[in-house]
Amino acid sequence: MAETSHPAAGPLHPATTAVAAGRPPAEPGQPLNQPPLFASVLRAPADGEYARYGGASTAAVEQAIGALERGTAVVFSSGMAAVSAVVATAVRGRPGLVQPLDGYHGSRALFDSTTGLFTESVDVADVQATIDALPAHGVLWLESPTNPLITVADIEALSDAATAKGAIAIVDSTAATPIAQRPLDLGAHVVVHSVTKYLSGHSDLLMGAVVTRDESLARALVDHRSLHGAIPGPMDCFLALRGIRTLDVRMRRAMASAQVLAERLAAHPAVERVHYPGLPTDPGHAVASRQMDGFGALLSFVLADAATADAVCAGVELVVHATSLGGVETSMERRGRQAGEERTPPGLIRMSVGIEHVEDLWTDLARAIDAASAGAGGGGTAR
Ligand SMILES: Cc1ncc(COP(=O)(O)O)c(C=O)c1O
Repeated sequence: MAETSHPAAGPLHPATTAVAAGRPPAEPGQPLNQPPLFASVLRAPADGEYARYGGASTAAVEQAIGALERGTAVVFSSGMAAVSAVVATAVRGRPGLVQPLDGYHGSRALFDSTTGLFTESVDVADVQATIDALPAHGVLWLESPTNPLITVADIEALSDAATAKGAIAIVDSTAATPIAQRPLDLGAHVVVHSVTKYLSGHSDLLMGAVVTRDESLARALVDHRSLHGAIPGPMDCFLALRGIRTLDVRMRRAMASAQVLAERLAAHPAVERVHYPGLPTDPGHAVASRQMDGFGALLSFVLADAATADAVCAGVELVVHATSLGGVETSMERRGRQAGEERTPPGLIRMSVGIEHVEDLWTDLARAIDAASAGAGGGGTAR
């Protein structure tokens, strides 16, 4: 596969790439930022005459995401539109798809309802079992870390083994972001993002992205988007790129706070289990230490039962009780309340850590846990 050359990606650190990439030409009189181009039509003849085929707004955010992942990016109107486009291009015609047991339920539902696609769910932390399940020329769909059990897959070992089988390795890297993990550098063929989450970072838009170094696949994705029409609008592109500028500082702060919260939750008597690869006791710790730069800002923890977890979600005042993840605000929900998450432990709360001060977050969380577990007649006092 040809490696795409991106000037801003060269020797720069991701923090710098996030700031430098996807800008108008560095010439006098040019704006520093790509302004949103509110135009469905340009006067002919012109490149990008009609906005459904792409234009200046999409190109700018694509350059930034492509530079961060070191590939060619194609953006879509949501993460699920990105997943759908991958299914219609890279996945189509392949004999089967292997996916994580606890991958994002929307992707799972899409795969399971895609006519003619044979799917199998495996524990992707088990490299041998995953490769054994993968048919020759099939699709290895990874999510790492997964949502909501925060399972870590060994992307390099799995991608190498998939390549040896003539299969395609696709990684939904939404939870990690290119600050913490770059799957294409680890041998994966395709990266998928819900840009809605940490990449854009402010819970104010929907967007998806697919990144690959396979230029013919990138063209097929653009063709699919042009025909199916799932292109993001100019304001969303502008806002997403504006969010990406601060991706590194947001992720570094959120990851540091996630580590502190995971450690304190693990020491809390009312918490039965914490899923976070930054904990040395976590089954994903060794692989994550190798393949990630930081452990992400998503964690989950298990309380006694659904009622206790619901009481904690109702009891927090600073932490937002909401679905989704990746905003500057810390949010959490009892995951089992969502349709399609029936296999998730009933008392599991998934938390997306934001950028507030960690002590304020802990005060709020510990108070809600203590109150809920005292109400349930058990638990103890947080430290
Ligand atoms: C890991 C993951 N992938 C994909 C998606 C879908 O993204 P969107 O909601 O932007 O369509 C989500 C949404 O929660 C997600 O968590």
